[in-house]
Amino acid sequence: MNGSLPIRMACAGLGGYAWSIAQQMIQNGGQDLRLVAVCDPALDQFADRIQKLRSLGVQAYPSFEQMLEQQEFDAVWLPLPIHLHRPFAEVALSAGRHVVTEKPAAGCIQDVDAMIAARDNAKREVLVGFQDIYASPTLPAKQAILDGAIGKIQYAIVYASWPRDLTYFGRNKWAGAIRVADTWVLDSPLQNAISHYLNLAMFLLGESLHVTAVPEQVQAELYRANDIENYDTCALRLTIRGQVPVTVFFTHAERELVDATVVLKGSHGSLTVDSNGYRIDSDHPRVWPADKHKHANMLRIISRHLRKQPYDGAVATLEMARIHTMIVNGASEAAPIIPFAQQYVTETATVEGKVMQAVTGLKQVMLRCVAERKLPSELEDVPWARPGGNLDLKGYRYFSGPKKGS
Ligand SMILES: NC(=O)c1ccc[n+]([C@@H]2O[C@H](COP(=O)([O-])OP(=O)(O)OC[C@H]3O[C@@H](n4cnc5c(N)ncnc54)[C@H](O)[C@@H]3O)[C@@H](O)[C@H]2O)c1
Repeated sequence: MNGSLPIRMACAGLGGYAWSIAQQMIQNGGQDLRLVAVCDPALDQFADRIQKLRSLGVQAYPSFEQMLEQQEFDAVWLPLPIHLHRPFAEVALSAGRHVVTEKPAAGCIQDVDAMIAARDNAKREVLVGFQDIYASPTLPAKQAILDGAIGKIQYAIVYASWPRDLTYFGRNKWAGAIRVADTWVLDSPLQNAISHYLNLAMFLLGESLHVTAVPEQVQAELYRANDIENYDTCALRLTIRGQVPVTVFFTHAERELVDATVVLKGSHGSLTVDSNGYRIDSDHPRVWPADKHKHANMLRIISRHLRKQPYDGAVATLEMARIHTMIVNGASEAAPIIPFAQQYVTETATVEGKVMQAVTGLKQVMLRCVAERKLPSELEDVPWARPGGNLDLKGYRYFSGPKKGS
């Protein structure tokens, strides 16, 4: 690979998020990155997209293997179903290509470890599409925290309500699934749509600039309103550094959207991250507006990283993503999934008029949980709440399956 030329990138998939990231590469690759090929087993479903891509000189292949054999490229993006991340990454690495896998890195920690081993064997790079890590405010905000801008961290909270309608859970065979064939998927708000903010919070809590905090313990309550295998609502308490609690509450089963928010509370102030940007409230307040070019920045940083050129910012590594996967696995092993009792769930319309399952009063429960740093059962007056369970994560390296009892 010639460091002065743009990275030649391929993309596996043409539907779902794959089309969105392929378009990002076309529009924002600039001098750094060029999309040269795509593949999808269902090419016939994407005739318009392929015509557009071919007019831009991008080749389309009916299989990943054919693309690897016939096309020259340096790296491949994998915006694929979760259960395909590990096998596709391994094949690409053994063919000498760098990999950018979408988040989560994989469904279980042993699959992430296998990807780390494959990366090291192949002497190639694997990065992960957790775009907030690459965003322009992330590293300066973390540096400010490490410099003591908010004092000693006392606790953190992370929460979001992202309503999802029935078409979201019906869009493919793995949405809301625990496993596909013999591969763990654990699709959930924690694993998939809202995972970015948990991953970002753990990164901001890390003890040095490019390192993510590792939780020692997870306590979880998992609930489901939708007709899926896994959960659509979760409340977690993670413990880091022996005493710092991180309270997490994510749901797809509340009708009202609540912005994804991360708060780190320190002895001398706090850091808040939401859709407006990053804000330090202290005697020396600071604001970093939201990165309006998050995807373009991510593409630039990834291509520079792969070409070994200097860049400002952080990259999301497999080691970082492994900690996110550890939390998702630990929560599933710690707590059974409790279906919300029918009387609390209503079929309702989203603001866009689509049908969804919504739990009455869930937003208020979520906001009380994060304000009081409690799990729903600890509020003691939430009729559907049930205690979940705990898991010690020290030395955690194998997900053996979700806790029975749901
Ligand atoms: N970074 C983000 O903000 C973001 C947003 C959405 C989704 N994602 C991630 O992107 C990934 C895909 O999610 P999705 O919701 O688009 O999934 P999806 O199931 O809707 O789409 C997956 C794509 O993979 C293609 N595909 C399936 N098998 C293939 C094969 N053998 N070879 C090539 N292509 C194949 C499908 O045709 C489709 O284009 C997931 O990891 C998800 O978490 C990331």
